[in-house]
Amino acid sequence: MALFGISISMWLVGVIGLSLYIVLYVISITIYGKKPGRNPFVLPSLLVKKPERTADDVINNQSARDSVLRQNFTGSRIPERLDAIVIGSGIGGLTAATLLARARKRVLVLEQHDVIGGCCHTFVDKGYEFDVGIHYIGEMRPGSFVRCLADQLTDGKLMWQPLDVDFDRVIVGCVDGGGKNRSVLVTGDRKEFAKRLAQEWPDDAAGIEAFFSLLDRLKRGSKLYWGLKLLPLPLARLLIKSGLCGLFSAYFRYLHISLKQYLDQHISSESLKSTLAYCFGDYGTPPGETSVVLHALLLNHFLRQGGFYPIGGPSEISFCSVPVIEKAGGRALVRAPVSSMVCNETTGRAVGVTVQRSDGEYTVLAPLIISDAGLINTAKLLPQTALEKSRIPEP
Ligand SMILES: Cc1cc2nc3c(=O)[nH]c(=O)nc-3n(C[C@H](O)[C@H](O)[C@H](O)COP(=O)(O)OP(=O)(O)OC[C@H]3O[C@@H](n4cnc5c(N)ncnc54)[C@H](O)[C@@H]3O)c2cc1C
Ligand SMILES: *[C@@H]1O[C@H](CO)[C@@H](O)[C@H](O)[C@H]1NC(C)=O
Ligand SMILES: *[C@@H]1O[C@H](CO)[C@@H](O)[C@H](O)[C@H]1NC(C)=O
Ligand SMILES: *[C@@H]1O[C@H](CO)[C@@H](O)[C@H](O)[C@H]1NC(C)=O
Ligand SMILES: *[C@@H]1O[C@H](CO)[C@@H](O)[C@H](O)[C@H]1NC(C)=O
Repeated sequence: MALFGISISMWLVGVIGLSLYIVLYVISITIYGKKPGRNPFVLPSLLVKKPERTADDVINNQSARDSVLRQNFTGSRIPERLDAIVIGSGIGGLTAATLLARARKRVLVLEQHDVIGGCCHTFVDKGYEFDVGIHYIGEMRPGSFVRCLADQLTDGKLMWQPLDVDFDRVIVGCVDGGGKNRSVLVTGDRKEFAKRLAQEWPDDAAGIEAFFSLLDRLKRGSKLYWGLKLLPLPLARLLIKSGLCGLFSAYFRYLHISLKQYLDQHISSESLKSTLAYCFGDYGTPPGETSVVLHALLLNHFLRQGGFYPIGGPSEISFCSVPVIEKAGGRALVRAPVSSMVCNETTGRAVGVTVQRSDGEYTVLAPLIISDAGLINTAKLLPQTALEKSRIPEP
């Protein structure tokens, strides 16, 4: 009976989906004709084969870097006829801004700090450069999907140095009671890593195999998750709530199982549990409060190609991104603390921002406002009436 119900709802979704597709197809043909639209991401620069860059091509001249990354906010530097404003210049804000710039949109990035980059910024003290966040990023092998995205956003200029094959070492004290200290090298080859773990913890060999096979299943299952992001929100919600997604993808079945729950169920050794959870610091919530799916996303990110470091340091990410924004007529300005969002009183829609500086208050308007300041910080910028209408909890 249950199976019958499932197959009926699958048919329904299939029929609704197909009819929706046909209706949209007919509408788009009527409006745009049969010709495919222009691909907004084909800017000429990436189509031209450029000479391969090397580490020697990184610009180390600090004043040249500052002229890109430390452009002070002034009224005269605000571009006219903006398409969008991005609050915050972290990797999230820069990604949104460069993506829009590649679609020929004019974007203004506003950063409250004195340098662009958020957690990707670096600073120099007594002749040494320090970074504040990034120490490795995965999946940057040339030709990989993530690398392709990074190349598009930085005009193909950002270079990546692979770390050693063994890119981390986990050392766990004798938590097993009377046991020994454990030390395992983490490698970008997940099969080799699983082998090393099974050698060190032979009693848990079956649990280790189950864990790595779950990683593979969640990797495959995540495709449906990313696919859902392309659907209209109500349709995506319907597919999730109806339980259909869970039928097809382990990703959705494991979402509500915490990493701790999973490890407690499948692994007996405490030191092995710690070893498998070692990188929880990368996303910042303890295993009891983290979905095993999030942890698998992170491990799958690093255990396939290992880690990579941006050549020239993390600030190279923003240093290569800002010119892409400028090429489309946009700007990335610092010392520009956004103090509030300007909203249309009737619609509640954000139509601009207010920048509060010691030399005065500036109002900048644009049809699209994107915030990379974080959820709670963004809520603080909203007028009370807009906040009440949103689903954001009050700060
Ligand atoms: C110590 C540490 C180590 C890390 N290591 C790694 C790693 O190895 N690999 C990895 O992939 N990730 C790592 N991360 C995580 C990664 O750095 C962050 O997830 C990512 O950089 C966050 O980007 P973001 O754009 O979301 O936010 P942020 O980088 O925080 O950017 C937000 C920006 O918004 C600005 N802002 C806020 N409010 C306003 C306002 N009102 N007006 C104007 N501007 C405003 C802030 O000044 C800031 O610049 C690490 C993080 C930390 C802290
Ligand atoms: C560094 O760059 C600045 C311009 O940004 C230039 O004037 C200066 O000559 C450069 N210094 C060196 C050593 O190349
Ligand atoms: C930017 O503004 C700060 C503070 O007003 C000032 O000290 C600095 O010299 C300015 N930078 C440039 C390049 O003008
Ligand atoms: C484990 O490592 C700690 C720190 O290095 C050391 O003090 C301790 O003696 C070691 N214990 C065993 C059993 O090797
Ligand atoms: C607010 O939005 C409404 C409806 O789109 C529009 O008619 C009105 O002009 C807007 N008000 C302002 C101040 O922009």
